[in-house]
Order: sequence, then structure tokens, then C-alpha cells
Amino acid sequence: MIPRIYIPGDSGALALGAEKVAKAVRAELAERGIEAKIVRNGSRGAYFLEPMVEVATATGRVAYGPVKPSDVKSLFDCGFLTGGHHKRWLGAPDKIPFLARQTRLTFARCGVTDPLSLDHYKAHGGLKGLQNAVAITPADIVKQVTESGLRGRGGAGFPTGIKWKTVLDTSADRKYIVCNADEGDSGTFADRMIMEGDPFVLIEGMAIAGIATGATKGFIYIRSEYPHAVAVMQKAVEIARKAGVLGVNVLGSPNSFDMEVRVGAGAYVCGEETALLDSLEGKRGQVRAKPPLPAHKGLFGKPTVINNVISLASVPVIMDKGAAFYKDFGTGRSRGTIPIQIAGNVKYPGLYEAAFGMTLGEIVDDIGGGTATGRPVKAVQVGGPLGAYFPRALFDTPFDYEAFAAKDGLIGHAGIVVFDDSADMLKQARFAMEFCAIESCGKCTPCRIGSTRGVEVLDRLAQNVEPEKQIALVTDLCNTMKFGSLCALGGFTPYPVMSALNHFPDDFRPTPVAEAAE
Ligand SMILES: Cc1cc2nc3c(=O)[nH]c(=O)nc-3n(C[C@H](O)[C@H](O)[C@H](O)COP(=O)(O)O)c2cc1C
Ligand code: SF4
Repeated sequence: MIPRIYIPGDSGALALGAEKVAKAVRAELAERGIEAKIVRNGSRGAYFLEPMVEVATATGRVAYGPVKPSDVKSLFDCGFLTGGHHKRWLGAPDKIPFLARQTRLTFARCGVTDPLSLDHYKAHGGLKGLQNAVAITPADIVKQVTESGLRGRGGAGFPTGIKWKTVLDTSADRKYIVCNADEGDSGTFADRMIMEGDPFVLIEGMAIAGIATGATKGFIYIRSEYPHAVAVMQKAVEIARKAGVLGVNVLGSPNSFDMEVRVGAGAYVCGEETALLDSLEGKRGQVRAKPPLPAHKGLFGKPTVINNVISLASVPVIMDKGAAFYKDFGTGRSRGTIPIQIAGNVKYPGLYEAAFGMTLGEIVDDIGGGTATGRPVKAVQVGGPLGAYFPRALFDTPFDYEAFAAKDGLIGHAGIVVFDDSADMLKQARFAMEFCAIESCGKCTPCRIGSTRGVEVLDRLAQNVEPEKQIALVTDLCNTMKFGSLCALGGFTPYPVMSALNHFPDDFRPTPVAEAAE
């Protein structure tokens, strides 16, 4: 058998030099006259080890990383094609502590398989969920998804089964499945990793959603900043269609389902489901008032399921192994696993899939290894640009929807961004207001005008102009934005602002004039 070498084609790995490594490996193979197959797999998500190159040996896969192009010659000299020792040797990838401690349900194949090989997908358990789904009634599929406890991974945590049931129960001549792959939250990359590393799991999840609700057409709305994900998804859809996974007879069943990829145009608000639908319809992405819910009147006025990539990609394992299996993981009303994305100033950045319930401290200190700078952790922003800042005093908070809400936070799309003690939380609060002002769709006043006034108030605070008055004003403004905004962009911007103010009051305390002048 010819040797197999795995070099990630994932954007994160490419950003760290994977293409140059692949080129060096190809050149070395040619020079040594060795025939080998190079597979461009996805990333396993341990980004501090990327580019992580793996070889298939008689005793399993052996990983090396982070590999530089200059390492390639010596890797061959050390016999890496048979797992030989080298300074970059990491051993069996699934024994690397960061990976070994995870519970990989949704990301089980990511980084393992060839993303565009349907055979590889099937050999690793792919399509079993869809096979089970076509054999039962739509109502039974919805029942399984409801019983699994799966909640939307896009941010709001709405129960997926209930959303699907609403669409199933709404009669119409046409229904749609829309996959939200706009992934605009800071520090998040789970959607991208799945689309680049295991695209068939998303296609399978969407096909199951279609069959469950009576929708025959799906759209994946991918942010324009993800060209690699767009390319992989487009190829995967074509392959799935040719293989009969999509089309008029899904897996030979009487069910019909097909899909296409659409590319966004770079607006954060187009991740909000109704603005996304407007954008898909070719309009300027603006938030729609609810009701009607998209489940009743969504895309082109038809009943529409709109779900995040991870929500949909988690469905195949539920339909394969059963609702009880999935529900067994997690805590309270947060069931199953969640791909936590650890980013920012952190020693071990990456994607860590685990059952809900680990504490924030475990994630930041044990898994993330603290800051990359080696300085103390000051704050962690959880849930994207609209998420609250958590101080170390709240690190005992379990990672679950309710526990975070109880601490005035949100887990959102499960991205966490770590800051060391050099962070200025007043600046971070200003950034939140400025972000809202830039990204506001302009439909409602608290967000459109409030965010701009918020920046001005925080600027006056930074300049020490009547500080107590500015703090009272920003608090009042946040209250108005929280309760008066039409969507969560304006409604949640107060979370980072107020958490920064409440947990780090010293950063908002004006510097006495005399002291500042010294
Ligand atoms: C301003 C804003 C941006 C959002 N961005 C995203 C996004 O990028 N991806 C996503 O899945 N959901 C995003 N959401 C949440 C969606 O509106 C919606 O709740 C989600 O797509 C539903 O899917 P789920 O139930 O599977 O989570 C955003 C919401 C708001 C208010
Ligand atoms: S809160 Fe902001 S983004 Fe949301 S509808 Fe109002 S103006 Fe648009």
C-alpha cells in the first residue's frame, strides 16, 4: 500500500503555513522518488499544533506538529512515513491530551477523514442517520430531535425539535431549510471547521431537516469571508447529488431534497435570521419584525427552518445513535455536546468539543492553558461581540445556557476570547458600542442612535468629563437598548458594556486630573 500523508487544507492551518508544508512534502517525495497519497483533511482543531501533519502507519496514525516547511527534509530523514521519531513527533493524534479529553460527537470525523470522499464519510459512520430518517415518519424524526434536547447552537439556544415541529405542522406548497453559516461572532470558527473538514455531515443534517418538515429545498448562507468553506461545500453538494444523497429520491426513498450554496456580503447583522432571509431574497439585509416567525412565513413567505451549522450537523449523530444517547451528555436543560472555541490571548487556542457543564475556569486555565503572554487572565468574553465579560471571580460558572444567563451572560455560539491584565475594559466597552453603531441595520432607534450616543458618552468618560454623570447616562442608555431594541444586536450590546462596567469598575474610574498630569 502506498503511504498516506494527511496535511490539513483547513483555512486555519493554511493561515499557519499548511500549503507551504504540502508543497515541501510534494517536492521531497519527488526528489526521493517515493509514491505517496497526500490527503488534504480538515483540522482536528488543536490550532497550536497546526500545521499538524499525519501519516497512516501499520499501527495507526502518527502526528507531527507544528510542522514548518524547513522541517520536511529532516522528517523524511527520520522515517516519518512509518512514524519515526522527530522533534515534531506527537504520537497518535487521539492521544494528544487536548484531543483525548474531548467528547467528539458532532466533530467526530473532522480532521480524520478526507472531507470530499463520500466513501470515507460512510466508512466513518456517515449517512446512517439519514438512512434511519428515511425509514420513519417525519413526525417521528421531529420527536427524536425534540427528545434529544438539542438546542440551537447559533446563539439563542431555542429547542431545534420545537422549531421543526412548527414547520412540519404548517401547511404550504413549498417549505425551506436555511442553514445559517454567517458565523460572525468574535473568536468563533466551529461552523467553518465543519464546512471545510466534514461537509457531508451538514448536508446530511439538512437533508434530515428537509424530510422531517416537508421542505424540499435548502440554502446554505455562508459569509463571504469563508471562500474555502464555500468551495468545499459547493463540491460536496455536487458529489452528494451525483451519489443520490440529494435529489428527487434521497437515498432511493420517495423523499426529495436538494440544496445550494449562497454567499453573504459581509454584514454581521445578516447572521440574524430574518435579515439573513432578506439577504437571501436579494434585498438589503434588514431585520424583520416578528411575528410572523420564519417557521410560519420565512424565505419567500414560505415556512422555513433556519438553523445554525452546528445545530444541523449535530442531527445525524442523534438520528444514528438515538435521542437517549445524545441526551445522556450534558447538564440541566443543556443537553449533548458543545464545540467550545477558545481564542484570543490564550496558550492553547482551538476547538474543544465537550458535554455541557465544564466550568469556565476549567476551559480557560486547564484546557486553554491561561494566556499566551503568560500574564494573568483578566477577563473572558463569552458569546461573541454581544456577550458579557466574565472576571476570574465567575470562573466557577458551568458552561450551560441557564448558568450563563443567571450571571447576566450568554454562551452564544460558544466562542470565548481571553484577555490578560493589560486589557482596558473601558476601551472594550467603547468597542462594543462602536461595533453596534457600525453593524446596526438601522431599523430601530435604540440601536441605530443609541449606539452612537453610547460611544460619545464613553469617550467623555475616558476624557474625565463629569464621570459620574456619564456612568449614569450609559447605564440608562443600556437599559433602553436592552428593552427597546428590535433584535439582539441592539438588545445585547449592553451585556459587554455593563459587564465591563460592573466587574471592572476601576477601569471606568476617572484618573484624577493631578495624577493624569504627572
Ligand atoms: C445580530 C445577530 C447576529 C447573528 N449571527 C448569527 C450567526 O452568524 N450564525 C447563527 O447561526 N446565528 C446567528 N444569530 C442567531 C440567529 O438569529 C438565529 O437565532 C439562529 O440562526 C437560529 O439557529 P439555531 O436555532 O440553530 O441556533 C444572530 C443573531 C443576531 C441578533
Ligand atoms: S436592534 Fe439594531 S440591528 Fe436589530 S433591528 Fe434594531 S437597528 Fe436593526
